[in-house]
Amino acid sequence: MADDLDMLRADIEAAMAGAEDLRALDAVRVAALGKSGQVTALLKGLGALPPDERRARGAEVNVLKGEIERALENRRVTLEAFALDARLAAERLDVSLPPRPTPPVGPEAGSIHPISRTMEELIALFGAMGFAVAEGPDIEGDWHNFSALNIPDHHPARQDHDTFYLTAPAGGRRPVLRTHTSPVQIRTMLSQEPPICVIVPGRTWRADHDATHSPMFHQVEGLVIGRDIHMGHLKGTLVDFLRAFFGIADLPVRFRSSYFPFTEPSMEVDIGWSRKTGELGSGGDWLEILGSGMVHPKVLANAGIDPRAWQGFAFGMGIERITMLKHGIPDLRPFYEADLRWLRHYATSPLSPFTLHDAS
Ligand code: PHE
Repeated sequence: MADDLDMLRADIEAAMAGAEDLRALDAVRVAALGKSGQVTALLKGLGALPPDERRARGAEVNVLKGEIERALENRRVTLEAFALDARLAAERLDVSLPPRPTPPVGPEAGSIHPISRTMEELIALFGAMGFAVAEGPDIEGDWHNFSALNIPDHHPARQDHDTFYLTAPAGGRRPVLRTHTSPVQIRTMLSQEPPICVIVPGRTWRADHDATHSPMFHQVEGLVIGRDIHMGHLKGTLVDFLRAFFGIADLPVRFRSSYFPFTEPSMEVDIGWSRKTGELGSGGDWLEILGSGMVHPKVLANAGIDPRAWQGFAFGMGIERITMLKHGIPDLRPFYEADLRWLRHYATSPLSPFTLHDAS
């Protein structure tokens, strides 16, 4: 091979050996074989030579080009292996190290959503009054959600509920996403002998969406069945609960006659507040907070309980609503947005669960 080609090869090989990473190696490739590279220039120059010289010289330049291409490829493989080794060394994980200390409270440690917190409070407060917790499915049969609760077909209450319906099985009725926790009254009476004393915290569904309504929300139901449970028990239980939950010992509570198909008589319950300031407990205004009543004899009979031997009361309230009132939360929508700023403000530490000491 001609001397000038040997020298060029030596130069290029030296540059390759000096390239310490893939970028530097690529620069060497471009300088040799790129559009205006040294080897490319030699190939272009061949046309200016007399034909007999051109042949021999052309063969030599092509051999050189092939050698350089192979050398570049070898160096690339070597540099890639170096890069991988370096990364493995840099990212080495010492699994024998002790864990990093995490803050004992705060969002990094996780926190309890206000809805879960209120459920804990409900279970603790009613638990102290002797209530057990009952549960039922979110997807309900029409019978449990409506008919057994004395809401027959074509009853206007069915329209009131803005029900989400699912596809009916062949020959059957459409299942629903339960519109309230009241179907669990029926399930509990069918599966337990009275006396019964349960609350039912759970998810409920209605096709409704604005600042104070969400298509998915939560309720807590209460059901007490005994031989001589009367309205005094209903009133005492709810007054005690509301005063303990809101932490206001003299919270005004008003029972206002109302209508529900599954209770008779029925009452809505209001608490005293100030419409102007939003403060609970004083101010002379009333705020509706829950529905209640004595369990309708037809509902007892539908659930297999003899209404001449047993009677009782039931109530139901919205968990978001009482949570918003208790903590002064103005808008319902952020409850479901998983916005960490909102959660940092309203969520509570998992390490300070609700106890009865928190209730006055
Ligand atoms: N289920 C009723 C509702 O969703 C509330 C309620 C429950 C009323 C039990 C009376 C008794 O509005």
